Amino acid sequence: MARGFFITFEGGEGAGKSTQISRLAERLRAMGHDVLVTREPGGSPGAEAVRHVLLSGAAEPFGPVMEAILFAAARSDHVEQVIRPAVERGAVVLCDRFMDSSRVYQGITGDLDPKFMAALERITVNGMVPDLTLILDIEPEKGLERAAARRGEGAADRFEKETVDVHRRRREAYLAIADAEPDRCIVIDAGRSPDEIARVIENVVTAALGASHTPASTADA
Ligand code: TYD
Repeated sequence: MARGFFITFEGGEGAGKSTQISRLAERLRAMGHDVLVTREPGGSPGAEAVRHVLLSGAAEPFGPVMEAILFAAARSDHVEQVIRPAVERGAVVLCDRFMDSSRVYQGITGDLDPKFMAALERITVNGMVPDLTLILDIEPEKGLERAAARRGEGAADRFEKETVDVHRRRREAYLAIADAEPDRCIVIDAGRSPDEIARVIENVVTAALGASHTPASTADA
């Protein structure tokens, strides 16, 4: 059976990733693709258990290395238990955040040693590098406003509560990744309306899939 396709969605807070992922999943399913939607940190039972420790801030006092290794542990489980089997059965996997979040949040704004981060990434990703990464780019002020509106009365999580300056550095870091890996990464202007963003994403993804993938249901026809 044909190998599937692995797409990750990245970006700062409030970029609208989850809305866009569900819209894209719906479109791809209507086109006959087997689609798996997942997220990080989490996506497998083991990784979901670690998610709470990270997002509640329980790991924060132990420092960025501890957090980076916990994100990596969650990712390794998620890759081996969920992502790799799905891609091997021919599915299109849509993942909300993946290795670039660690590069940006832990590596850049956590000031961790690039060699340490690269080694951790190699072990956890274990060859499962995304075929396509969509970076939803938004001004930090606008994104944080959206994230706060979505949250309502709830408290900001461990990573949302950081300063606008930190969010700005993350935006720059994502754009630098896109510059360095243009074959994998596409930057999408997420300051536009959800309908416009969805249209751009659909075009990018159908072109990428058309070049490399046939829906599982029609592959043998
Ligand atoms: P989540 O509530 O899933 O949010 P979002 O809608 O922003 O994707 O929170 C995930 C948080 O964890 C987010 O602030 C980014 C952070 N994160 C890292 O710091 N490193 C990582 O490797 C991953 C996957 C996420």
